[in-house]
Amino acid sequence: METRVEIADFEDWRDLAGEAVDLLRAGEVVALPTETVYGLAADALNEEAVAKVFSVKGRPSFDPLIVHLHGWRDIKKVAEVPAEIEDAVRALTQEFWPGPLTLVLPKKPEVPDSVTAGLPTVAVRVSAHEVMREVAKQVGPIAAPSANLFGRISPTSVAAVLAELDGKIPLVIDGGACREGLESTIIKIEPGEKQPLITILRPGPITREELRKFGTVKKARPAKKGETIEVPGQTASHYAPNAQVVILEKDQEFTPEEGKSYALLSYRGDSKWEEAHEWIAQEALSPGSGKLAEAGVRLFHLLRKLDDAKPDIILVEPLTETGVGVAMMDRLRRAASKEA
Ligand code: TXA
Ligand code: MG
Repeated sequence: METRVEIADFEDWRDLAGEAVDLLRAGEVVALPTETVYGLAADALNEEAVAKVFSVKGRPSFDPLIVHLHGWRDIKKVAEVPAEIEDAVRALTQEFWPGPLTLVLPKKPEVPDSVTAGLPTVAVRVSAHEVMREVAKQVGPIAAPSANLFGRISPTSVAAVLAELDGKIPLVIDGGACREGLESTIIKIEPGEKQPLITILRPGPITREELRKFGTVKKARPAKKGETIEVPGQTASHYAPNAQVVILEKDQEFTPEEGKSYALLSYRGDSKWEEAHEWIAQEALSPGSGKLAEAGVRLFHLLRKLDDAKPDIILVEPLTETGVGVAMMDRLRRAASKEA
């Protein structure tokens, strides 16, 4: 199959969204831009289309998909909002939607079990990208995981989508580089004694600090043996380039291993490691300025770029775990947990 790439310009993005709408209504899957990463979209209520998403990505069926809505009012098409958390859901969505916050809510029977991997809950968000929102307005709820092969780095540009899915899907809409560059924050909300309890299931662009205004925030605890996992699909080895990723310790001296080639990903480009070796490739997340937001936007792009130089190992300078640094270190640790 030939994959068409259409560039969404200021003037014609509505027409292009229309082309995606036609394909989605016909049960096809297409790659669409969002503000976080590119998504591989299908009509969430069409079981066959959803099955295509899993087969194109090579994604295991136990990993549930996020459903993208046009707006707040569409929640009821796919999910229930329990009365005891309704105020919290309203406040959070008013503040962060459209935007990179995903809520896990009890699912409605209309949502195929394949979307939610058989869970009684469904993950929903309203993307801030006009193309994804327009498509969700016209087609209805859109299931869309990141548009990469399973276990690989999420794509933040069309080049990254095509590197893995060229020839496998009929259409990619090019909305430029994603402005967040990291997947949405996923939360679960429960009633608490004084205020709602917000559990972060996946850290992302909406930070713990920002969520604190809306309740007591906690991090999902890793499941113990025999327990059902609270964060399905968050397998340790995820977001992995071909090279082995190794996160450096703050004070670590670098000694190369004989016969191994190394690339370096540093924060500002002024680390003590810059000159420690003749790296086969070298990049800085936020050159000179050291801004976490800039680093977040560039993280996946630079991991791909370094991987293209085919090093055995990509060494990464550790980041401060505040704000969006939490999400970045989460992705880096998952990348690093891949077997060599
Ligand atoms: O920013 C994003 O969220 C991007 C864009 C395309 O919207 N999407 C994305 O989807 O990152 P994906 O498939 O790569 O990650 C979805 C993850 C699953 O792996 C799982 O961890 C979580 O969302 N998830 C989905 N449904 C869930 C549920 N019912 N309960 C708990 N977690 C769920
Ligand atoms: Mg993904």
